Amino acid sequence: MSLLVLGANSLIAHAAASHFAEGGHEIIFAGRKQDEPEKYANDFSIRYKINCRAEYIDALDYPSHKKFIEDLLVKTPELDYVLIVFGYLGTQDKAQIDFNEAHRIIDTNYTGVVSVCELLAAEFETRKKGNIAVISSVAGDRGRQSNYMYGSAKAGLTAYLSGLRSRLAKSGVNVLTIKPGFVNTPMTYGMPMPKIIVASPEKVGKYIYKGMVKRKSVVYTPFYWRWIMFIIRSIPEFIFKKLKL
Ligand SMILES: NC(=O)c1ccc[n+]([C@@H]2O[C@H](COP(=O)([O-])OP(=O)(O)OC[C@H]3O[C@@H](n4cnc5c(N)ncnc54)[C@H](OP(=O)(O)O)[C@@H]3O)[C@@H](O)[C@H]2O)c1
Repeated sequence: MSLLVLGANSLIAHAAASHFAEGGHEIIFAGRKQDEPEKYANDFSIRYKINCRAEYIDALDYPSHKKFIEDLLVKTPELDYVLIVFGYLGTQDKAQIDFNEAHRIIDTNYTGVVSVCELLAAEFETRKKGNIAVISSVAGDRGRQSNYMYGSAKAGLTAYLSGLRSRLAKSGVNVLTIKPGFVNTPMTYGMPMPKIIVASPEKVGKYIYKGMVKRKSVVYTPFYWRWIMFIIRSIPEFIFKKLKL
């Protein structure tokens, strides 16, 4: 069995991949930085004594994606699992005055993921098997003034994955939407977050692994975010717009 990780540099991805590694799966780490995927592939192959290799992909370089997937499938014809973690939080304030920042947030979290997913979907649909797992976010459940650029891109991604899941279900292909809450990673360093609900990448990685092998549809991680977001979605708009969230 083999796992492709798109976003080789993410601690959440490493944590999820470590469970596949313990099970002896082959892992392909793909990312945009020249050294990083290589570094993690070497580390995992030594630590877990498994086959690992590095590949290079930029989520924003859409024209390169078709060849990336074609080449990858030649090298790994029996690709079983794909975990897509491409993400960019960006800066909300900057995005409001500089559309380049807004564009990068939207494209990294949405367009780049969709581009790769469609290529994988076509292949898995033909084979009638495969698993695609994508990290969205609880931020996509309701737009907040403090990060609605990022949240709206994740909301679009969640809706896209819902449709893709329905399309691929009849072909036996599973699509998992992962919705983490606050996670302690470089993406959130320095952000004011209520400590009690900040999870470690290891904890979130375990939820992701379980969701993938159990072929779940949507996973909130940790689980209590399902209820937190239920409450947040239930707040009437006339109150919500007055909250400093
Ligand atoms: N941390 C949280 O609290 C939290 C909460 C909810 C959802 N999430 C989501 O979880 C996922 C992983 O995030 P993380 O917390 O582990 O943060 P992270 O370390 O910043 O991970 C983001 C990943 O996306 C990659 N990436 C960004 N732009 C890219 C591009 N153009 N091409 C290829 N790769 C690109 C990054 O690679 P580089 O290192 O090369 O930039 C990195 O591997 C993201 O989708 C994020 O939105 C995180």
